[in-house]
Amino acid sequence: MSPTPRSTSPDPADPAAQAADTTDATDAAHAAELARTREFFAARAAGWDAKFPDDGPRFAAAIAELALRPGDSVLDAGCGTGRALPQLRAAVGPTGQVFGADLTSEMLAEAGSRHPGTAVLLLADCARLPLADAAFDAVLAAGLISHLPDPALALREFARVARPGARLALFYPIGRAALAARHGRTLTPDDLRAEQNLRPLLAATGWHLVSCTDTDEQYLALAERTPAAPAHS
Ligand SMILES: C[S@@+](CC[C@H](N)C(=O)[O-])C[C@H]1O[C@@H](n2cnc3c(N)ncnc32)[C@H](O)[C@@H]1O
Repeated sequence: MSPTPRSTSPDPADPAAQAADTTDATDAAHAAELARTREFFAARAAGWDAKFPDDGPRFAAAIAELALRPGDSVLDAGCGTGRALPQLRAAVGPTGQVFGADLTSEMLAEAGSRHPGTAVLLLADCARLPLADAAFDAVLAAGLISHLPDPALALREFARVARPGARLALFYPIGRAALAARHGRTLTPDDLRAEQNLRPLLAATGWHLVSCTDTDEQYLALAERTPAAPAHS
């Protein structure tokens, strides 16, 4: 007897099969977005730091806002070529822990060769971090959030790995309007990083927005991990 072929479409009378099918489609769409992101950044990894030679002081100012102390643990989410890693290491000292996570192996390879021994580097999607709950005192996400297919997933994941009271910095070394102009776009009211949109998104994912500054030189949203864990969806 031949095996029964697996149906490729869900049984309309079975809600569980319908839900599983929707989840599969969502996962496939997420994976396709990540593949596009990887391809984009892989091609840019080698020249990344040379393209933005003047960002160091802006990173320093943003990292200072994280108020890191010696011995703290900090995650650089979407660490890229590791531009922030030496400053994060300096802030937490030799007894602290610095982790850098990135989706793109070419970016991580640059980080590893430019800053050997500075941080533990992880090849990972920020929405699914291979890290323990409540492990970090702070999370830095520089230039990241606008590249995520589902920012809420990553923000929730950052909340999971952050201790209550931990700080989150969503940072860009250029303001929203200037970045939009650089890419030939104009800002629209639905822009994720506009304070009125970001505040409720952070609140829904386990964070309280403390401040949001957006000048030509930088964008910095600072948030604090709320005591109660957000529900995972
Ligand atoms: C604009 S670059 C910024 C890199 C670095 N933070 C900096 O400021 O120089 C964005 C980085 O985020 C990474 N990235 C994008 N989506 C990601 C995801 N879902 N999980 C982890 N890293 C991601 C990219 O591979 C890239 O290295």
